Amino acid sequence: MTGELSPIDKAKFVAAKRAVDFVEDGMRVGLGTGSTAAWMVRCLAEVVRQDGLKIRAVPTSTRTAALARELGIEVVSLDEAKWLDLTIDGADEFDGDLNLIKGGGGALLQEKIVATASDQMIVIADAGKEVGALGAFPLPVEVIPFGWQTTKALIEEMLVSIDVLGRSTSLRMNGDRPFVTDEGNHILDLHLGRIGNARQLAMVLNQVPGVVENGLFIDICDVVVVGYGDGRVETRDINQGTVETEKLDFVESENLFRDID
Ligand code: 5RP
Repeated sequence: MTGELSPIDKAKFVAAKRAVDFVEDGMRVGLGTGSTAAWMVRCLAEVVRQDGLKIRAVPTSTRTAALARELGIEVVSLDEAKWLDLTIDGADEFDGDLNLIKGGGGALLQEKIVATASDQMIVIADAGKEVGALGAFPLPVEVIPFGWQTTKALIEEMLVSIDVLGRSTSLRMNGDRPFVTDEGNHILDLHLGRIGNARQLAMVLNQVPGVVENGLFIDICDVVVVGYGDGRVETRDINQGTVETEKLDFVESENLFRDID
């Protein structure tokens, strides 16, 4: 089965597998959303099943919650867990300071709440997600449906005075309807090309009425685990200033790669 994985899926898989090493018995763990996070949930479920690791998990979307439950991970709400030891999630982009763009999967609101309520956030990503400056990936901004066109216009007006390359915005669609998040909101994607000052933009965006949250994660991520298609993983810890490289084997496991309904 692993022979069928593309290099990018192998990269996501090894990053996910390495990040699961950070999970210890008794921890409360935030589970991210997206294809890389789904590998992590599968790897984590293997450790729960095989080694009897006891954890309580807080998923960041209905999708991740369904996968975790299906694979036998105990799922609790953030209000039940109150605070988390660790969150492991993917990202759409990360820079050298481990600032991120997230929300490509539309789950940025829960992802930001959960990551912020964690002692540590670990991002898992294939090497293609690393950028010199954030912004090539369209920045997702969650807005309430009421008056979303006005919110969009206000954001565009605000962007005129912001250091970015592009300023177009678009409503994310799901077929011929607006995409709806788990909280019943919409997503505006901001096509900025390059963000000069991500910290400033993150603060200014959240002051626009109608904006619920934006996909810039500034000073939230502590560790990034970067996966490569040949099995190499690089673990960078921004607080400790360390970089460790190792090579992981692809382990055949029917359970790990089985299809989930
Ligand atoms: C979902 C996210 C994801 O973490 C991000 O989109 C990366 O996804 P993938 O691992 O599928 O590339 O932010 O809201």
